[in-house]
Amino acid sequence: MRDIRIVGGRPLHGSISIQGSKNAALPMMAASLLHRGVSVLKGCPRIADVFCMEEILRELGAVTWWEDHDLYMDCTLADKTEISGIYTGKMRSSVILLGAMLGRSRKGRLGYPGGCVIGERPIDLHLYALRQLGADIEEGPFLISASCDRLTGGEISFAKCSVGATEQGILAAVLARGDTCLKNCAREPEIQWLCRYLRTMGACIEGEGSDCIRITGVEGLEHGEMEVPPDRIVAGTYICAAAATRGTIIIENPPVDELDAFLEVYRKMGGQYKLKSGKLIADSSGIGYPLSFLETEVYPGFPTDLQSPVMAVLTTISGESYIREQIFEDRYKAAVELNRMGADITVEGRDARIIGGSSLRGCTVTAQELRGGAALVLAALAAEGVTRVQGYQYIRRGYEHICEDLNTLGGMLEKDTGIRLYESIQLPKKLIN
Ligand code: EPZ
Repeated sequence: MRDIRIVGGRPLHGSISIQGSKNAALPMMAASLLHRGVSVLKGCPRIADVFCMEEILRELGAVTWWEDHDLYMDCTLADKTEISGIYTGKMRSSVILLGAMLGRSRKGRLGYPGGCVIGERPIDLHLYALRQLGADIEEGPFLISASCDRLTGGEISFAKCSVGATEQGILAAVLARGDTCLKNCAREPEIQWLCRYLRTMGACIEGEGSDCIRITGVEGLEHGEMEVPPDRIVAGTYICAAAATRGTIIIENPPVDELDAFLEVYRKMGGQYKLKSGKLIADSSGIGYPLSFLETEVYPGFPTDLQSPVMAVLTTISGESYIREQIFEDRYKAAVELNRMGADITVEGRDARIIGGSSLRGCTVTAQELRGGAALVLAALAAEGVTRVQGYQYIRRGYEHICEDLNTLGGMLEKDTGIRLYESIQLPKKLIN
């Protein structure tokens, strides 16, 4: 298990550029399967989940390569239709490839998706969407198999908002015969970027960003090429790092149109921000106000992915704060570890009460999932002394350079591979003295 060693207690200051968005890149990669040729995603984050999706595309027969942060995917021969559980078990978004395989090859089989352990994470809405378009689906004990003659457009009316299921429906509908109407869709920016990307490939889509998306199926899609947008969750995470240490940072390429709900919360905690020449300046010197009630919601509400990072900030603010996690039923795993650092967090079901203000102390803590792991890093930056965050493998799924980025801002973080020559190898006594 790789760790991150963090020396806390230093306010962050400086400028940082934000990596490409994980949650935008992954569906855009799946969409690239729908073109029998080369597509490219520029500014793609080099993170574990993207590499996993790349391996999946290769398993299907694609040829992929990188030129710096530009990911090329040649799907000319990507006609295989089975994805092994090795990859699907690692990542939630593998499941949306089912819709893409059905659209391209009219059949597909894959293992059930894995991903962050933040709740049960069923896929009933995904399978509902595909069945609405005419897919025959068999849910085996380990594999899901789907097939169709050719998907036929229809109405998909989601019982609840789901980002992944909306993406699933879109990927299946763009090559279906006829018109598809998706109702009660997710409105997240990542859905909007997927639709924009598909439109550059020749898809006929309108309504993204609203709760109703209309698609007219086409016979085939062309070359895709797009710049992956900056990651709104990484941007929010770094602003939280500044807030936890009362520093001031400048974000060079902020996805500012996608951060409204978060920035409103940042301001309620006492943060001040302004835009200047396209850069976002976040001044956290005034951070110090607890949140009487914060509730996570579907977009454009406050994003669930920033709930844990904000919780870490709230542990540094005197007074009582309350959070309600409305999207995932088990997304407070970081609370136990934060309490080991001296925080005072009480969790009851979907509610968490944070009594902040007692100083955090460095110790060894363990990340169990991506955003909770990032929250531990933020708390470590604010803590006195040294913190060892175990479970870096979760954090690297979504953050390309979290250590280097936060060090650029004045933090003191180092990845510890855990290999210590003087500990693991019995050196002759004379070499040690
Ligand atoms: C996407 O997950 C993101 N992942 C998540 O980010 C994000 O937290 C989530 O959307 C919400 O914004 C990617 O884009 C790869 P959902 P997804 O389907 O699609 C329930 C991160 O940290 N549901 O919108 O899996 C589900 O259980 C990750 O980057 C069903 O009931 O989320 C949840 O309660 C974590 N049936 C709610 O809907 C289904 O078939 C929202 O989930 C599907 C979902």
